[in-house]
Amino acid sequence: MIVCVCNALNESSVRQAAQNAGGRVSILKIYESLDATPQCGKCLCHARNICDDEHRLAQG
Ligand code: FES
Repeated sequence: MIVCVCNALNESSVRQAAQNAGGRVSILKIYESLDATPQCGKCLCHARNICDDEHRLAQG
């Protein structure tokens, strides 16, 4: 499922980036790690939720 249309980022990429970050980091850092830059910003809330979800799963 596409999360960010502007950067063609899918959910699994965002989840993987959040896991690789190894902790809670800003969504801008997550996008940066994917060589992406937020443009319209419509995806940011959804992407943040995905990252928060991964962070919660990592904490058990
Ligand atoms: S949809 Fe992600 S920046 Fe536009």
